[in-house]
Amino acid sequence: MNDEMTVEAEIRRYSPGEDAGPRYERYVVTGAGNMRVLDVIRRIYATSAGDLAFQFACRIGRCGTCAVKVNGVPVLACQERCVPRMRIEPLTPFPVIRDLVIDRTEIEERYARLALTPAPPAAGAAQPLPMDPGLAERIGHLDSCLACMICVSACPAVAERPFDGPAFMLKLGYMHKHPANDQDRVDSAMESGLLECFGCDVCTQLCPADLSPAQEIRELRRDAVLGARSRS
Ligand code: SF4
Ligand code: SF4
Ligand code: FES
Repeated sequence: MNDEMTVEAEIRRYSPGEDAGPRYERYVVTGAGNMRVLDVIRRIYATSAGDLAFQFACRIGRCGTCAVKVNGVPVLACQERCVPRMRIEPLTPFPVIRDLVIDRTEIEERYARLALTPAPPAAGAAQPLPMDPGLAERIGHLDSCLACMICVSACPAVAERPFDGPAFMLKLGYMHKHPANDQDRVDSAMESGLLECFGCDVCTQLCPADLSPAQEIRELRRDAVLGARSRS
């Protein structure tokens, strides 16, 4: 029958500080043919592994909290359709709190360091000019990043080089274009490994928000070259 499927899921279980090391536990779940990976994880939690740690919030692909690796590929669990055999793991290369839950402390600290810190307007200062609609649309789209870390997890340069990763480059590209930007974001991108990207476009292909970190990296590199030229 097309409307039902059985899935064999191996889930990486690990509680640092309690377990000697990670292990994979196997579960079999039968459900609707269009089940998503999150449906399987929730069913396993409800029926056979009440101590399984995982995260989700919106279930509509907007919050980014449910990201995991399925058969080695980072995906949003609430959007990804099941395949008959799945190995489900937490996103690499992040530290694991437990099972499928990663520690986002460093991620949030990095985003906090990238935030705008504009000075408060002086008394009697002119109202800011309205933003150009084309620019507003462009940077509004860049601001739709879910911070899911799928791109960072998939990036081969993050795994091999001193590179913060595509999500942070995208954020720097957004800040660089923002009219209220208050810092040299191209310099920050250089310090975060801008030149380490291989240009493979995997980040863009996997992004669930249809963003292109690779394109932002290309534009930041272009502006790094133009800035260096104008200084010479
Ligand atoms: S294009 Fe660059 S940032 Fe994107 S996945 Fe490839 S190496 Fe990483
Ligand atoms: S750029 Fe895309 S893949 Fe990367 S964190 Fe943002 S939404 Fe996720
Ligand atoms: S639960 Fe929000 S993106 Fe999956």
